[in-house]
Amino acid sequence: MRLDGDALTLVFALEQGGGADLAYAGPRLPEKEDLAMLAAAAARGRHESQPDVPPQPGLWPQRESGWQGTPAARFRRLSGEIIAADFRLIAWSHEESALACRFADPRAGLHVSLHWRLFRSGAVLCLAEGCNARDEAIILEHLATLNLPVPSRFDSFTAFSGRWASEMQETRQPIAPNGLARASAGGKPGFGGGNWLLLHAGAEVLGAHLATSADHETRIVCDNAGSSNGRAILQMGAGLEPGGRIIPPKGAFGGAPVLFALAPDRSALAQIFHRHLREAVLPARAAWVPRKVHLNSWEALGFNLGEPALIALAEAAAALGVERFVLDDGWFGGRRDDTTSLGDWTVSPEVFPHGLGPLIARVHELGMDFGLWVEPEMVSPDSKLYRAHPDWCLHTQGRARPTMRGQLALDMARTEVRDYLFERLDALLREYPIAYLKWDHNRDLFPSAPGQTEGFYALLDRLRDAHPLVEIESCSSGGGRIDFGVLSRCTRVWPSDNNDAIERLRIIRAWSQFLPLEVLGSHVGPSPNPVTGRRLAMDFRAKVAVFGHMGVEADPARMSAQERATLAAHIALYKDWRGVLHEGALYRLAHPDRNVTALMVVHHGRALALAAQTAFSPVFDAAPVRLAGLDPQARYRVTLPEPWPPKAKHYLANPQSWRAGLVLSGSALMTDGLALPLTHPETAWLIALETIA
Ligand code: GLA
Repeated sequence: MRLDGDALTLVFALEQGGGADLAYAGPRLPEKEDLAMLAAAAARGRHESQPDVPPQPGLWPQRESGWQGTPAARFRRLSGEIIAADFRLIAWSHEESALACRFADPRAGLHVSLHWRLFRSGAVLCLAEGCNARDEAIILEHLATLNLPVPSRFDSFTAFSGRWASEMQETRQPIAPNGLARASAGGKPGFGGGNWLLLHAGAEVLGAHLATSADHETRIVCDNAGSSNGRAILQMGAGLEPGGRIIPPKGAFGGAPVLFALAPDRSALAQIFHRHLREAVLPARAAWVPRKVHLNSWEALGFNLGEPALIALAEAAAALGVERFVLDDGWFGGRRDDTTSLGDWTVSPEVFPHGLGPLIARVHELGMDFGLWVEPEMVSPDSKLYRAHPDWCLHTQGRARPTMRGQLALDMARTEVRDYLFERLDALLREYPIAYLKWDHNRDLFPSAPGQTEGFYALLDRLRDAHPLVEIESCSSGGGRIDFGVLSRCTRVWPSDNNDAIERLRIIRAWSQFLPLEVLGSHVGPSPNPVTGRRLAMDFRAKVAVFGHMGVEADPARMSAQERATLAAHIALYKDWRGVLHEGALYRLAHPDRNVTALMVVHHGRALALAAQTAFSPVFDAAPVRLAGLDPQARYRVTLPEPWPPKAKHYLANPQSWRAGLVLSGSALMTDGLALPLTHPETAWLIALETIA
C-alpha cells in the first residue's frame, strides 16, 4: 500500500502474519505505479551466509528471525529473564494519509501498534504504542518509535553535537558499517543534538527528529553481518531510565513521537519542518501577534538588580524601540548570585521593596509589556524550599547529592512538587501582569528517575490552561531543551547562551534547519561578548540578530550614541520585516566562501536576505550572493537596507543605484546574484526584495 503527500510517496510491503517493510520512500510516484513490481525490483536473492529465510527487519526489527542489529524493543520479566518475542503483523488500517500496523506475539503476551501519518506539510509523524497482555508486570528496556529502513541511495549523514554555548555543530560522515549510536542521559535532549539527524543522497536529504524533551537514543544500524538485505536502519526513540520502565499487568506503554521528512535539498527540508511546526505543533500559531522585540536584563545587569537600575534599563530599552522588558534571574528570595534560593519563588523585598508593581507599571507606561525569568524545576540547597522539603529533590537515599551550578533538581514526578510550583507560579501570574515567562532549566537530571518529562509537561500544561495568554520560552542554559514536544507548549526557545554574532550565525543556521526564525530568540549582546570575549561592531551584531526573534541583551547605557542609533535602526528594520521573516519560506544560500553565511526568507513577493562574512575573503572581490526561492519571471526591486556596514560600504560600486533600488528578474538574481562587498571580516548586508508589477 502507499501513502502520498503532495511531493512524497511512501510504499509499504505488508505481509499478514509476517512483517512490515518500507519498499519506497521518495519523490511522489505516478498513480499507476505497480507496487508489486516495485517490490519485486528491490527484492534480493538469498546468499550463502544467511538464515534460510532471510530476515526482513523492516519497521519492527527483532532478533528472533536472525537479524543481528538492535531490536525495536526489548522486554524482560521482573526476574530479569529476557522475554523472547516474535512479533507478527496481525492487522493494518490504511486511511488516505495514515497507516497503522498492529503486531503481536500472543505467546509472549505483547502487542505493539505503529502509526505513521503523513501531513500536508510533507512531514511524517511516527508513533508507537503497546500493551502488556500478561498477568505479570514486565520491564520495557528499550523502545524505538521509528525503525526506518533507509533507502540505499542515502550514503552519508549529518549528526549534530554540541556543548554549552556552542550548540548544533554539524559533522558529516558516510553511512558505514560502524553506524551511529547516540544517546543522552541528562533527562533532556541536552546540548548533544542527537535528537536531530540528516541523511544525504546527493542533494536530497532526509531529516529526522525525536519530538520529546526526554532523553533520546538514536542509531543507524548497518547490517554488518549481512544477515538481511544489507540496508541500514535508522532508529529513534526515547532513552528510558537505567533498568527500564515497569509496565504493569495489562498495562499500556508508548514511545516518544518521531518526525521525519524527505526533501530535494536542505532548504526544502527546512521549509517542511517549519511548516509542520507552524501548522501542527506550535500552540495557536495562526493567532500569533508579531513577535515583540525583547530586552533581557541578564547580560545588561546580571545579578546587580535594583528597582532604579531596572527602571533606567527599561527607559533605555523603550528609547531603542524595544517592546518587551524581561527581568531575568535574581528577582526572587535571597538570590543575589547563583548559589542560592531557587525554589523560593517570591519577589525579593530587598531588591523590590514595593514588589514588582512599580517596575511593571513603568514598563507599561513606556509602552512595553513585561516578562519574567523562572527556573521552576530546580531547588538550591540554600533555600527555604529545600529546608522545608529536603526529600523533594532527585536523590538516592543515604548518598551524596551532587549539585550542578549549585543546584539540585526537583522530582517532577511527585504531585506535591508540581502542586507547590503551580501554586507559586500561578500566584505570580495572578498578582502581576506578566506577558511572558523565560522558563529555564540549568541542571541535568541525576540521579535519573522516571516520569520527569511527563511531570514537566503536566505542570506546564496546567499553567498554560490557567494562563493561556502567557507566552513561554524554553531555555536550558541556552539550547539544552529544544524539541517539538516542548514547542507544542511554548512560543520560543533560547538557542544558545552565546550571543556572539559570529557564533550565532552558525548556531542560527543550524537550528533553522528545523526551526523557523520566529521561535529562535536572537539577541544583540554586549561587546566584548561575555562568553567569547570577542569584540564586534554593533552593525554586525544587529544585522545578525534581525534573523530570528530579535532582542537586546546588553545595557544601552554602556553603548555609544552611535551604537544606540545603529541598534535602533535595526530594531525598526526588524519590525518592518518580521512579517516576512516569521511567515515565509527560509532558504539556505550557498556561497563559495565558507566564511560567508547567507540565509533568505521569501513571503508573498517580498524577501529579505542576510549575507555575513566572518573572515577576510581570500579573493578581494568575494563571489556574488546568489539568491533563491524567487519567481524566475518576476521582477524585483532590490535594495540594501541602511545603515550599511561601516567599512564595506566604501567598496559599494553604485551607492545611488542601491538606494533607488535595482530592478532585476528572479532569474538573474538566482543565477548571477549580487556582487556585494563581502571582503572584510565581520561584515553583514541585508538585502531587501519587493516584486514590482
Ligand atoms: C541560564 C540562561 C541564561 C540566564 C541565566 C540566569 O544560563 O541560559 O540566559 O537566564 O541562566 O541565571
